[in-house]
Amino acid sequence: MARLSRGQRTGAGTVALMVLALLSLVLMTMLVLGLVAVPSVSRSATEDGAVVELKLPSHRHGDEIPNPLTPWVEVLSWEPRAFLYHHFLTQEECNHLIDLARPNLVKSSVVDSETGKSKDSRVRTSSGTFLMRGQDDVIKRIEKRIADFTFIPVEQGEGLQVLQYKESEKYDAHYDYFHDAYNTKNGGQRIATVLMYLSNVEQGGETVFPASKVNKSEVPDWDNLSECAQRGKSVRPRMGDALLFWSMKPDASLDPTSLHGGCPVINGTKWSATKWLHVGNYLAR
Ligand SMILES: *[C@@H]1O[C@H](CO)[C@@H](O)[C@H](O)[C@H]1NC(C)=O
Ligand SMILES: *[C@@H]1O[C@H](CO)[C@@H](O)[C@H](O)[C@H]1NC(C)=O
Ligand SMILES: *[C@@H]1O[C@H](CO)[C@@H](O)[C@H](O)[C@H]1NC(C)=O
Repeated sequence: MARLSRGQRTGAGTVALMVLALLSLVLMTMLVLGLVAVPSVSRSATEDGAVVELKLPSHRHGDEIPNPLTPWVEVLSWEPRAFLYHHFLTQEECNHLIDLARPNLVKSSVVDSETGKSKDSRVRTSSGTFLMRGQDDVIKRIEKRIADFTFIPVEQGEGLQVLQYKESEKYDAHYDYFHDAYNTKNGGQRIATVLMYLSNVEQGGETVFPASKVNKSEVPDWDNLSECAQRGKSVRPRMGDALLFWSMKPDASLDPTSLHGGCPVINGTKWSATKWLHVGNYLAR
């Protein structure tokens, strides 16, 4: 077998480089002429044919958005890791969730950190109800969309909890991860939360992260935020938007900056739907 000499090898390398350079030139020419396009928007069709658009990469707060209804993801914060997916749900989906929940609302409770049992509390004054995972086609579709957004399978999610906050109702700052062994038996610790806003709220009702740092000169509508929402990075409820934040860091330790609260509603009614996601499969009711 003849071995390639050094000269021949260099020759082959040079030819390969020239071919590559030529190919790039052709591709660039085609790009300039508009014969091929780089996809900037990825589309995925849902079962019923509705098209969900996810514009990449994420925009930053204050960037101009071409179409006000185009879904897009905003990076809110890295401590905690929090992202706002604008126009995640349609108005019909929001109303559907509210209609399902409305007849079954009961006063919300909190988990007792010592016993792990539910209890009534003044720190959480909303009313709410749980929907079953995969309860109907609309919910299945939403749960699939959440899985696509978070990269966490549907099987690791609890059933959606729909909440109603009337004027002055709130949820004081808390963590979504558990401090007891009882509540982590099913699915392990909670890793992330997707909080969807189902209604617009005139004033108040923001979600606030009091352990985060905020630079108020970078928040365009700072003066319109309630006092409660000015304690850290915050999100104003807007119908259809979905807030994703992580209760655990990438190294699987708990993230204390994920402390968050629902500010008192000042004017209007706030409806939200929460999806809690676990580190393992969650046995849903
Ligand atoms: C806050 O943001 C403004 C505007 O981007 C910037 O000029 C200023 O340096 C920031 N302040 C701090 C403390 O980071
Ligand atoms: C603040 O709220 C007022 C009244 O709703 C509105 O007119 C104004 O545009 C808002 N400002 C910002 C910066 O959003
Ligand atoms: C709430 O908002 C409505 C509509 O903007 C307004 O008419 C009403 O006066 C507000 N109520 C309070 C208590 O601010």
